[in-house]
Amino acid sequence: MAKIWYLGHSCFQLEIDDVCIVTDPFITDNPLAKNIQLTDVKADIILVTHGHGDHIGDLVALANQTGALVLCNYEIYLWLEKQGVTNCRPMNHGGRYSSRGVDYKVVTAAHSSSFPDGSYAGNPVGFVIEGQHDCLYFAGDTGLTLDMKLIGEEFDLTGALLPIGDNFTMGAKDAAIAATFCKTKKVVGMHYDTFDIIEIDHEEARDAFRDKGVELFLPEVGETFNF
Ligand code: NI
Ligand code: MN
Repeated sequence: MAKIWYLGHSCFQLEIDDVCIVTDPFITDNPLAKNIQLTDVKADIILVTHGHGDHIGDLVALANQTGALVLCNYEIYLWLEKQGVTNCRPMNHGGRYSSRGVDYKVVTAAHSSSFPDGSYAGNPVGFVIEGQHDCLYFAGDTGLTLDMKLIGEEFDLTGALLPIGDNFTMGAKDAAIAATFCKTKKVVGMHYDTFDIIEIDHEEARDAFRDKGVELFLPEVGETFNF
């Protein structure tokens, strides 16, 4: 089982096989994460799905603080390099990287990607993280796409972290279909409630997943749980 610390929005600290992985660092400017100190966050690997501010807000600070290896697309790699963050591996759709017994595969995400100043930030991605006993799909920001069926064919997922906030990404109904496409029975919801525009009804969201025979976990920001 992976040990997960939910840091709000799409930011998680995942412990898989003693490797500490942080996704889309965004804590300081997240009003729901005001009780979390960035300095308490540990990372060996940082996964970045795209350039939007709600996914890279604390990226440079966390990379500098931890010295973690950042996995991201080529354009974000160049942007980081300009800011002195050099422990970074540029990847793209279909690419795989393996380190300390954990595999990372870059998968499709149907979204957009620009930096907060509006400049081009490459294509958005998702990741599949495969350890000895855990295999998690971290979707990033995405709408529902048939490509998710490929994930179900290739991997035996133990769970998925899917956006459910609607408006900028899938809502819960589409995310429940995504869960069936990638063949998982367990989902952690993310990218919801952070801003007014993505506030959701939690019970409706759980019902949408229940209808598909999938369990939806909605952890509190700051909660630690096994998944
Ligand atoms: Ni986005
Ligand atoms: Mn976003």
